[in-house]
Amino acid sequence: MKQTTDFLKMKKNNEKIAMLTAYDYPSAKQAEEANVDVILVGDSLGMVVLGYESTIPVTVDDMIHHAKAVRRGAKNTFIVVDMPFLSYHLSIKDTLLAAGRIIQETGAHAVKLEGADDVLEHIKALTKAGIPVVAHLGLTPQSVNVLGGYKVQGKQAQAALKLIDDAKRCEEAGAFSIVLECVPKQLSLEISNAISIPTIGIGAGINVDGQVLVYHDIIGYGVDRVPKFVKQYHNIHTQIVEGIQSYVTEVKTLAFPEDQHSFTMKEEELKGLYG
Ligand code: KIV
Ligand code: NA
Repeated sequence: MKQTTDFLKMKKNNEKIAMLTAYDYPSAKQAEEANVDVILVGDSLGMVVLGYESTIPVTVDDMIHHAKAVRRGAKNTFIVVDMPFLSYHLSIKDTLLAAGRIIQETGAHAVKLEGADDVLEHIKALTKAGIPVVAHLGLTPQSVNVLGGYKVQGKQAQAALKLIDDAKRCEEAGAFSIVLECVPKQLSLEISNAISIPTIGIGAGINVDGQVLVYHDIIGYGVDRVPKFVKQYHNIHTQIVEGIQSYVTEVKTLAFPEDQHSFTMKEEELKGLYG
């Protein structure tokens, strides 16, 4: 299993980091079998698994419930768990208690927090307490209602400069990696060059130290539309619906179950049954 220091080494050696989200036992098993470097139990859970409109309704208990299943499915992969909405914005003590629960109850290895500014002292406190932190800058979905929608961030020079500065501050606060979501590719290059911890991009182009995408998006599982930055490698949604349709049809037409799916009693026992 990789460690936080391995990700720093990968950046130095220009070896790209492949991160993928997972939310349960099978997705975690598949991610591990496919050799992803890091699994993220993202709070995108709220949207792709639980059917909410945003990540805002997701709770610490939701994250723990799912992260436990992920850990059982991927025993040999480094696992990062998202701290959900408002779980790292009260006191430092509240943040440490929430992150402590996430790490202790699930066996995951690190947490991810969105934003800089007031979040920096929480990143620092967690790192000091022995909990590795991934920062998350650019489009920060937990702030969607402040940002005014899911939009590319840092397109203007001033906003871009702020993001470069934020990234440096996240590194100073102790973060061992930074997710960059929906930022122009030129800006992700600037940020990646400005810091020594690896940048993991999503909608951030090629100039980063690694990529992260959502499990459901790359295999087309239960999602209707995917964002521009997603590459879909399969569409299993169609295969799944076709499989279920075949089952329904065969039940109605008595094509299922066949003899091979059925259990039998011995003849003499049958006689006993009829007296
Ligand atoms: O919740 C999530 O899936 C994420 C990534 C897409 C970065 O935060
Ligand atoms: Na997230």
